Amino acid sequence: MKTTASRNLHDPATFERGIPHDLFEEMRLTPGLTWSPDYDGTRGFWSVTRYDDLVAVSRDTATYSSAEGHIQIYDIDEDALAARASMIDMDPPIHTRLRRLISSAFTPRHVQDYKAAIQLRVAACLDNLQAAGGGNWVDIVAKPIPIGVICDLMGVPEADHDYLIGLTDHLVAGTGSEPLEPNAYGNTTDLRLLPFNSPAAWAMSQYATDLANIRRADPADDLITKLITAEIDGEQLTTEEFANFFRLMIFAGNETTRSSMAHLARYLEQFPVAFEAVRSDRSLLPAVTDEVIRYSSAILYFRRTVMAPTVLSGTELAPGDKIVMWYSAANFDENQFPDPYAFRVDRPATSPHAAFGGGGAHFCLGASLARLEISELINEMLDRQLMFTSVGEPEFVESNFVNGIEHLEVTL
Ligand code: HEM
Repeated sequence: MKTTASRNLHDPATFERGIPHDLFEEMRLTPGLTWSPDYDGTRGFWSVTRYDDLVAVSRDTATYSSAEGHIQIYDIDEDALAARASMIDMDPPIHTRLRRLISSAFTPRHVQDYKAAIQLRVAACLDNLQAAGGGNWVDIVAKPIPIGVICDLMGVPEADHDYLIGLTDHLVAGTGSEPLEPNAYGNTTDLRLLPFNSPAAWAMSQYATDLANIRRADPADDLITKLITAEIDGEQLTTEEFANFFRLMIFAGNETTRSSMAHLARYLEQFPVAFEAVRSDRSLLPAVTDEVIRYSSAILYFRRTVMAPTVLSGTELAPGDKIVMWYSAANFDENQFPDPYAFRVDRPATSPHAAFGGGGAHFCLGASLARLEISELINEMLDRQLMFTSVGEPEFVESNFVNGIEHLEVTL
C-alpha cells in the first residue's frame, strides 16, 4: 500500500519554522516508505525517514545513484546535469578519483593544522559581538567563521569573503519560492543550466576561473593550486570541472556550518543544563558539538535515483524512482536516539547521527573541519562566560533543503 505524506515536502513553507518534527515522526511510524506527488504532477518521490533505511541507501551507490537524475527533488534536463556536475553528483569510480584529489586535507588529524587560524576567527567574531553588546548572531558570528575558514583553505583573499557570502546566500535563495533575476551579476547563461537555477552559481564560476588563472601564474600552498595542478589519469581538471569543484567546496563548507552555528545560540538558551555540564567538564565538548550538529541537521535532505529493482523497508522500488533521504528526520529516529528531542551530552559515540550522511561514499568530506569549528566556538564562549540575556525569534531561510537561519537577534 502506498501511503502519501500528509504535507507538501516541496514547499519551503513546510519548513518555515524549521524541521517539521511532527510530520517526520508520523512518516517514521508509517510502515514502508512514504510517497509524495511532485509539484507539477509528473512524477513523485519516496521519502526515507528512518535511520537504518537512510544508512542502507547511503552505502549502496550501485542501487541508489547520485549521477543518475538530480540530487535534489526536482528534475533537471540531461544537459543541465552535465553542466552542473561536481563530485557530489557522481558515483564511484569517478567520484572516488575526484574526492581523492583533496581528501587528505580534511582528515581528523590534518584539520588540527587549521585550529589556530579557526581560534583567531572565533575570537575576532566574539570580540565584535561583545563590543556591540549583542546584535544579529548570524551576521556577526555564524556567517563569518565558516566562510573565513573554507576561504583560507581554498586560498581566497580575505577581501573577497563578503562577496562569496553574498553569492552563497543567493544560491540558497534558488531553493526557495521567489523567482530569481536571470541577469544578476551579468549572467547570460540559461538558468536551467546553473546549480540551484541561480545566476550566483555563474558568478561563482567566473570568480573561480579568474582566481585559478592568478594561481597558475603564481602558485600558493592552498587547495586551489592543488586542484588546478592535480592530474587524474594524466589529465588536469577542465576549467568547468574546476569551477564546479570550487563552488561545491565554498557552498558545502560555508552554508552548512553556518546553520549549525546559528542554531547553537538558540540551544545555549534552551538547554542551559547541557552547556553548564560542558563548562565544568570540557571532555564533553565533542559530545555537545555532535549534539548541536544532530539537533540542527543543517542539510535537510539529499536525493538518489534507483538503478535496479529493489525493496526497502517493504516498499518495492523500480529503476528511475526518486528516493529522498531526510537526514533531518533520521536524526530524530527514536530507535537510534532514545528520547530524540532531548538535547543530551551523554549520547554514546557508538550511535552516530546522520547529519553528515549515512556513512557511504559521499559522507561529508568536511565533517572533521565542521566539528572543529563548532567546538572551538562553544569552547571560547564558555571560556568567556558569554551569556545571552535574550535570544529573539529566528527568521528561517526559505528552503526545503537547508535548515538555515537568516536573522537571530541576541543581547548579552
Ligand atoms: C555542520 C556542517 C555540515 C553538515 C551538516 C554537512 C552535511 C553534509 C551532507 C549531508 C553531505 C552528503 C552526504 C551523503 O550524501 O552521504 C555532505 C557532503 C559534503 N560535504 Fe558537508 N556538511 C557540513 C560541513 C562541511 C564542511 C565544513 C565542508 C568543507 C569542506 C563540507 C564539504 C562537503 C563536501 C565536499 C561534500 C561532498 C562529498 C562527496 O560527494 O564525496 N561539508 N555534507
